[in-house]
Amino acid sequence: MSVYIINGGQRLTGEADVQGAKNSALPILAATLLCRGKSEIHNCPELSDVDATVNILRHLGCEVERNGRTITVDSSQVSANEIPDELMREMRSSVIFLGAILARTGRVSLSTPGGCEIGLRPIDLHLDSMKKLGAEVSDEFGHICCESNKRLHGAKISLSFPSVGATENIMIAASTAEGVTTIVNAAREPEISDLADFLNSCGARISGAGEGTITIDGVEKLSGATHTVIPDRIAAATIMAAAAMTHGRVCLNKIIPAHLGPVIDVFEEAGCRINTFGRSILIEAPSRLKAIKTIRTMPYPGFPTDIQAPVVSMLSIAQGTSVVIETIFESRYKYIGELARMGAKIRVDGRMAVIEGVREFHGVPVITPDLRGGAALVLAGLAAKGQTVISQIKHIDRGYEKLEQTLRKLSADIKRVDVNE
Ligand code: EPZ
Repeated sequence: MSVYIINGGQRLTGEADVQGAKNSALPILAATLLCRGKSEIHNCPELSDVDATVNILRHLGCEVERNGRTITVDSSQVSANEIPDELMREMRSSVIFLGAILARTGRVSLSTPGGCEIGLRPIDLHLDSMKKLGAEVSDEFGHICCESNKRLHGAKISLSFPSVGATENIMIAASTAEGVTTIVNAAREPEISDLADFLNSCGARISGAGEGTITIDGVEKLSGATHTVIPDRIAAATIMAAAAMTHGRVCLNKIIPAHLGPVIDVFEEAGCRINTFGRSILIEAPSRLKAIKTIRTMPYPGFPTDIQAPVVSMLSIAQGTSVVIETIFESRYKYIGELARMGAKIRVDGRMAVIEGVREFHGVPVITPDLRGGAALVLAGLAAKGQTVISQIKHIDRGYEKLEQTLRKLSADIKRVDVNE
């Protein structure tokens, strides 16, 4: 087991490259299952969630090679169509394999991971969509089985919520279905467009990705392709918050500023100066941040739910009172108890967090509850007076590639220490 030991108070300065997007690499790697041949995916971040995805691909019969951030998948021979519980437990978002396994083999069997740290994570939209594409679906006691003894067929699917995962599963499964599929109220995240770009380079015919309606004109089969994963906008915003909280000056490279629209607005309202040029963002923070009246997390292009925890951490030491409303997940405030131990003054009332800014955090031992909550605690430690020890950082390793190295490069005093169980 490892912990982070952070001595706070260091001003973050310098430059850092942004990692590849976790939430783009995972669905794209799952989609390689549908390709008859070899795919080469570049800029895959080195994360435990990517490791888990590779383990599932290998379990299903694919040959997978990794060379740093390039992952090559040869899915010529797929020999299984079920994901065993132990692999499902390694990664909650394994449901992203549903559409690919079903479309490739005609059958898929997996256990729903059930809730996770941030909510129940239902998959009703995924299953209803697979039914509309022609699959028989059974869901008993958390064990899912979808099967279709003939090729899937196109359908018009209207999503009651623009679910990212459901949109991705439909796009993947419909790519080789017979006929045209239309997704109405589709998710519009940049990761959706990145998946569509990969599938189209494999021979799929997808249009409208990134907008509310996506059309997929099914083809017989897909070949392999080479693709570079887009930068991780969530990881980028997390480092921006670290700079903001330490009145720092940081330039982030290899990012797509357009993916961070609503996030940049929030940092500017908090008093930061932001300059974007090409694939870089320069953030310069004031000596004291300003509170923000209200932030409401929304589906893209609204303010991302994955940035809620880092921004609540940032607003905890701003001047004034801020309000954050988490509209996407039902229990994404677990980290706030740990922030309070560090001196934050936050009142949670259902989906709303009221943050009364304090002068500073105090370093104490804290426990990571989930991926983005853990990032919030790291940020608080960077700004805190004294030493913060953060345990259960395996949650952080799921989504941030070598976070301590990136932060140390920016002059943070942080180290990863292995402690016995
Ligand atoms: C993806 O999760 C991301 N994960 C999440 O990032 C991100 O927070 C989320 O999209 C929203 O942007 C990956 O891409 C691997 P959803 P996903 O389906 O697909 C409800 C991180 O920290 N819903 O858009 O699971 C659901 O309960 C992770 O990197 C249903 O009701 O998100 C939630 O309230 C966390 N039924 C809302 O929709 C369904 O069938 C958003 O879920 C599916 C979802």
